[in-house]
Amino acid sequence: MPIPEEFLDELNSRTDIVDLVSSYVALSKKGSKYWGLCPFHSEKTASFSVSPDRQMYYCFGCHKGGGAINFVMELEGLGFVDAVEELAKRAGMAMPEVGRDGSTAKKRERMLSLNREAARWFHANLSRPEARPGLDYFRQRQLSKGTITRFGLGFAPPGWENLITAMAQKGYEKSELMEAGLAVHNSNGRIYDRFRNRVMFPIIDVRGNVIGFGGRVLDDSKPKYLNSPDTLVFNKSRNLFALNLAKKTKMGMIVLTEGYMDTIAMHQAGFDCAVASLGTSLTEDHVKLLSNYTKEVVISYDGDAAGINAAQRAITLLERTGIKVRVLRVTGAKDPDEYIKAYGREAFAALLRGATDQMEYRLNQIAAQYDLAQDDQRVSYLKEAAALVATLDSPVEREVYAARAAETAKLSKEAMLEEVGRLRRRNNWQRRKKEERRALSPTQSAQPDARTLRYRNVP
Ligand code: UTP
Ligand code: MN
Repeated sequence: MPIPEEFLDELNSRTDIVDLVSSYVALSKKGSKYWGLCPFHSEKTASFSVSPDRQMYYCFGCHKGGGAINFVMELEGLGFVDAVEELAKRAGMAMPEVGRDGSTAKKRERMLSLNREAARWFHANLSRPEARPGLDYFRQRQLSKGTITRFGLGFAPPGWENLITAMAQKGYEKSELMEAGLAVHNSNGRIYDRFRNRVMFPIIDVRGNVIGFGGRVLDDSKPKYLNSPDTLVFNKSRNLFALNLAKKTKMGMIVLTEGYMDTIAMHQAGFDCAVASLGTSLTEDHVKLLSNYTKEVVISYDGDAAGINAAQRAITLLERTGIKVRVLRVTGAKDPDEYIKAYGREAFAALLRGATDQMEYRLNQIAAQYDLAQDDQRVSYLKEAAALVATLDSPVEREVYAARAAETAKLSKEAMLEEVGRLRRRNNWQRRKKEERRALSPTQSAQPDARTLRYRNVP
């Protein structure tokens, strides 16, 4: 049995060739491509190129070229299936059962149908009189009928076995509901519905599969949201809520929010570019997924310490792939949902237009750490800000941000630029040294770094 096309597609979309090649070859960016010394023939000047846009590599010296699978085949001397397996391991994907009975694939498929049936049932409940509280809840949160339908929202009634019974009628066993995370068991071995008396948010992947659920209580009890556990078809560190809708946006960006309700409220207000991470911090896999659909991400996290930390982390991850990042500062309301309710969609649109770009955001973060009325602290600020500005490759951008940073600290732009220049010369010198060392020990540069750890399955 050949490896399914679908699996290869997913593998390719989860594998970034720049990342892959970087673990074997030191690359540096020039124009739209990355360049390095060819791993397939020996050379002193870099003629080996990797194109992130085309996800291909090509050597102008020895004319070897291809995609990610090809690269691993060539470099590791593996056959097609083994190379695919290698990449799958890297991407944290389970290999399909090649040549065997394909039982995992069947199981996945059956779990997806069960999820779909469950989502239909939760949704259908909303039109039953018993589900009044669920419908009332959505109304109270000002969700329209259209929004409820678009997101396939639903209600899990109170009671222990409502879903189990409904799914039994469709031919699904309790054990299957357990595996799908829809049922749980207590210490006596009794099996019952996981989601009870909660409004339900189905989580749908970019291919339109229902892969999991979030369920919210109707009052202030805890936990506020209950989510599906990771299953054969669901992994929260690899999926984003509403990306199935946001991937079609024409807004030219994706707004990353913290919550289901923020995302839904944004869509309802016409911002169809909103997605939510599922109660976890952003991972490499999320970033890869996003990079398939957009070149610009606007982060809209809560303004509390946890939110700021999460935003910083997300910025670092996103930037590495060359995605443009901006941070939305929601002031006067807790989150986008409440902001839109309080000030309306026009105000939110303005907020979105004015979202400070991430350089400015980070400079502000640095400035906030110092008392700029004190001379010694201004010096520390200048050094830290300059280090950040020095990471910019464009001289124009360096000029702009150096000026901005200087103004904040009431220093001259020249002083700031001078410090930036000094740091860049030092960085370049260090980089050249490192490259020389690498060039002198080709065996070492052919070793993969320990960086593959990044692909571990984040819980
Ligand atoms: P928030 O507590 O900020 O809630 O959680 P929210 O999105 O504003 O929700 P509403 O407006 O009160 O309904 C943000 C996100 O964190 C996850 C959920 O994904 C939620 O949308 N979360 C939160 C959980 O997974 N479990 C929880 O108990 C709470
Ligand atoms: Mn909220």
